[in-house]
Amino acid sequence: MLKRLYGNYWRFGFRTRLYDLLTPYAYLDSLDRCAGALQLREGERVLDAGCGSGLGFLALTKQNPRVQVHYVGMDILQSGLEAGQVKARNRAANRKTFWVRADLSQPAPFRGEMFDKIMAHFSVYTLAEKAQRLSAWKSLHQVLTPGGTLVAANPSTDYDSRKIIEDSLNHPVLKKPALKYWQKRGLYCVTERLGLRHIESQLRVGYWHAYAEGELEQELADAGFIPAGSQKVYAGSGWMVVASKP
Ligand SMILES: C[S@@+](CC[C@H](N)C(=O)[O-])C[C@H]1O[C@@H](n2cnc3c(N)ncnc32)[C@H](O)[C@@H]1O
Repeated sequence: MLKRLYGNYWRFGFRTRLYDLLTPYAYLDSLDRCAGALQLREGERVLDAGCGSGLGFLALTKQNPRVQVHYVGMDILQSGLEAGQVKARNRAANRKTFWVRADLSQPAPFRGEMFDKIMAHFSVYTLAEKAQRLSAWKSLHQVLTPGGTLVAANPSTDYDSRKIIEDSLNHPVLKKPALKYWQKRGLYCVTERLGLRHIESQLRVGYWHAYAEGELEQELADAGFIPAGSQKVYAGSGWMVVASKP
């Protein structure tokens, strides 16, 4: 049963909404940081590469409440796209959104340099081979307009599920009321046992990729981007890099 569940790890999480429910605050903060770093401007086209259930869309809307953009969520899983569509309908019906099923390891299904901004939040690390990741970054580079910005975040080699939960439980929104803290504490037990430890072990055996310091920047530079330094996110368990296309 557990094996089957993990075989369909995100599909199951997106369909049952467990993914959203169990997402720790440290992860939401990382999404907010990436969405803020994109510095969206009115009318821009934004690609969320590996958008999952659309949490990135919510972060972009939250960080840029008065800016109207054309948002495209792209993911390999239909269940993620469907969950994203529901969010867009219920939470931001006035926003223009498009949801596209595509594989990051293949050439992107878009014509020309059509995006002003791209966010790739904890998606490309699922491509275990360096060559696959490089080809994913290159195809994102191809669809980004010159002068455009890519914000990428991925797990670090310091990935630590215990620290992620600890930081999330210390989040300012859980200071009061106490009931919310205890509810989250209960939920986060499940997050840690079923979710984060699974990710940690996948990273350890190399089934997914954890980035050493400077490695994400180097990969992006190899794909033609100009990275502007990296920052730790996700309670130290991830790296965020803001990069531009010359
Ligand atoms: C950890 S989730 C992150 C989702 C979202 N970016 C977020 O931060 O909530 C990883 C996502 O990458 C997607 N993904 C993994 N491999 C992919 C591929 N080859 N092509 C497109 N999406 C992929 C998964 O389906 C999943 O939605």
